Amino acid sequence: MRKKIIAGNWKMNKTLSEATQFVDDVVGKIPADEKVEAIVCAPFPYLASLVEKTKGTNLKVSAQNMHFEDNGAFTGEVSPVMLTDIGVTHVVLGHSERREYFAETDETVNKKTHAAFNHGLTPIVCVGETLEQREANETKSLVETQVKKAIEGLSNEQIAKTIIAYEPIWAIGTGKTASSEDANEVCAHIRNVVKEVTDEATAQAVVIQYGGSVKPSNVDELLAQSDIDGALVGGASLEADSFLQLVEAGTK
Ligand code: 13P
Repeated sequence: MRKKIIAGNWKMNKTLSEATQFVDDVVGKIPADEKVEAIVCAPFPYLASLVEKTKGTNLKVSAQNMHFEDNGAFTGEVSPVMLTDIGVTHVVLGHSERREYFAETDETVNKKTHAAFNHGLTPIVCVGETLEQREANETKSLVETQVKKAIEGLSNEQIAKTIIAYEPIWAIGTGKTASSEDANEVCAHIRNVVKEVTDEATAQAVVIQYGGSVKPSNVDELLAQSDIDGALVGGASLEADSFLQLVEAGTK
């Protein structure tokens, strides 16, 4: 049985005091249940203090991006060495907003997945199509390319530990969710792609999240699908109550 992983991606939101308050509000309430894992993906300036606050709890802390180099003349960037040094465990890679606004490519995502594993970080790799691509029936082939490129050169063991988040771009922040069947179809396709490049056991181990307007009212239906193993949540992860409801859904 794959566990359900619920990750709240705060994006560029919250002040330090709001971030701290959120963690205070949720941390004692995350169920100690082997079936679910809860993660907050916080802005860089808050990571170190959130890691401190969540030590010994069931809440994990993720970065939202990183550079693939260990160090060097890359002004404004944050490296995997820095993230592991402060105790961060996960990193979101290739989010569509980074692909669209910050020139993230399949090649840089691949370099970053390697860098993540080289430094003991678990990557949450985002893939997903635009509305135009969906309407042109390109969803599966696009997602297939994105997944294959992201995991290229990783060992099967590393691929098994990679979290893949299927986030159709047209469903992000729009209130439009892919139907649970449509989302599951793409997640099942992703699992098949993983199987094609690895083996059945690896494909069965890999956690595949859905993301795009997930909220307490639709999470149960999404998580009930055969190949959806969790959610990467933006808007509905910003409030403690709503985040806790999403995590709770993962225990069902
Ligand atoms: P929303 O849940 O706000 O649609 O955002 C999804 C997302 O991009 C999570 O990474």
